[in-house]
Amino acid sequence: MQKKIRWIALLMALVLSLGITACAAEAQTGFSDIPADAWYGEAVDFAKAQELMRGVSETRFAPEETFSRAQLATVLYRIAGEPAVAGDDGFSDTAPNDWYASAVLWAAQSGVVNGVGGGRFAPNDPVTQEQLAVMLWRMKGQPIASEAADASPYAAQAVTWARENGLAFDGFSPKQPAIRSQVAVMLQGYLSLKDEAAITLTVAGQPLSVQWAENSSVDALRALLQKGDITLDLSDYGGFEKGAPLPETLPENNEQMQTDAGDIILYQGRQFVIYYDQNSYSLTPLGKITGISKEDLRALLGAGNVAATLSLAKMQTQAEKKTLVAYFSATGNTRPLAKTAAALLGADLYEIVPQTPYTSADLNYSDHETRATREQHDDAARPAIGGELPDFSRYDTVILAHPIWWGQAPKILYTFLESGDFSGKTLTTFCTSGSSGVGSSAENLKKSAPGASWLESRRFAAGASETEIQNWLESIGLLK
Ligand SMILES: Cc1cc2nc3c(=O)[nH]c(=O)nc-3n(C[C@H](O)[C@H](O)[C@H](O)COP(=O)(O)O)c2cc1C
Repeated sequence: MQKKIRWIALLMALVLSLGITACAAEAQTGFSDIPADAWYGEAVDFAKAQELMRGVSETRFAPEETFSRAQLATVLYRIAGEPAVAGDDGFSDTAPNDWYASAVLWAAQSGVVNGVGGGRFAPNDPVTQEQLAVMLWRMKGQPIASEAADASPYAAQAVTWARENGLAFDGFSPKQPAIRSQVAVMLQGYLSLKDEAAITLTVAGQPLSVQWAENSSVDALRALLQKGDITLDLSDYGGFEKGAPLPETLPENNEQMQTDAGDIILYQGRQFVIYYDQNSYSLTPLGKITGISKEDLRALLGAGNVAATLSLAKMQTQAEKKTLVAYFSATGNTRPLAKTAAALLGADLYEIVPQTPYTSADLNYSDHETRATREQHDDAARPAIGGELPDFSRYDTVILAHPIWWGQAPKILYTFLESGDFSGKTLTTFCTSGSSGVGSSAENLKKSAPGASWLESRRFAAGASETEIQNWLESIGLLK
């Protein structure tokens, strides 16, 4: 995947170096519904040339039409190089023989999509602008960004990231559907991103959005930050700026500037300066603070000295973030609840499948000689799990979901816990039952996962609503 993306980026660089810039390009789309001077024409050319998007016919691109979530998953899968996939995507509204099945499965397994809640992927819904941003942001490794106030919580960082990195077009409106021309523009923006870490700036403890300049001074600052974060004690100067010397001198790219509030400047190669008012001088632009008013910036900088920290954005790696919902469901009551919990949390879903399936005779609890009943009354019983176990190291939180059998978790849950090392992880359980509560089921499972910390368990009736599950997840602090 990296290879393909790099290749595309190289091609882009070549195209740009030949002087065919966004403004100068005359769109070559060949689509009759795209004016030659359309602002998105070059992006459509690009998407077509890279075989990411086709027209809706030989002659029409339909730039104003919406794009479905399934179509987007397919495009992203193409960008990823269409790796082979196997397994279940965990969504109730997709099927293995759908035309987009492999793409959605890849997207779900790689954490690029989490579904729309309620265990659904909503393949035919139009993708919104923030959903598009969030999927691209996840593909990029979820670089940390400040939260955009106009986006949904799950997309708040992604939207800022898209804006700061030039993916968002003029008039980007997070909750509106993305139309096809906008999808092409964002895909082009994504594929022309340089593979470099963003610089984050925190002033007085508040992370700020910065549009960094593209010059050798910023490149040198980024290189300097590879060695570690830099905290500066900015002091006031002239009633219009606050600054402090950097630990090393950076190359200058001076130009005559009329500064304004939010400008970040390098002065004489060494002084890092944030302007909160106007000045005119020969200076090196480093960047511009965005998304904060002049008044708020002044208030944040305060009257005296203020601390500013520069660092390289850390990627939220999969391992840092992931939650697993692992469930066992013999008669199907627990399964939809586990899917709902996973969708609410954006968690991975794993089904604990017994190597030898339970027949209905095995489950007949009025007969004390049946398999399930015998196992439940045998302390040593550890029914084997069929198929592969998840990579436990990827998760820091694991939710176990299971039915109650004879007042306890089925013994296969013990098999599962004893197959991995859960020390240091956060665990909890929920169960479904005819009428029994959690009872001692969670307490007994704890013995099979030494060193884990446990959150309070909950029993649900079969068919419990999404709201009930959400309330529980909120009550134990897994959902905010
Ligand atoms: C062998 C067996 C024992 C059961 N024991 C209990 C029990 O002790 N208390 C109870 O309320 N329900 C009991 N049930 C009912 C299940 O807990 C309930 O139907 C559950 O929702 C099934 O979940 P599933 O469909 O995901 O397997 C038992 C079911 C079976 C098959």
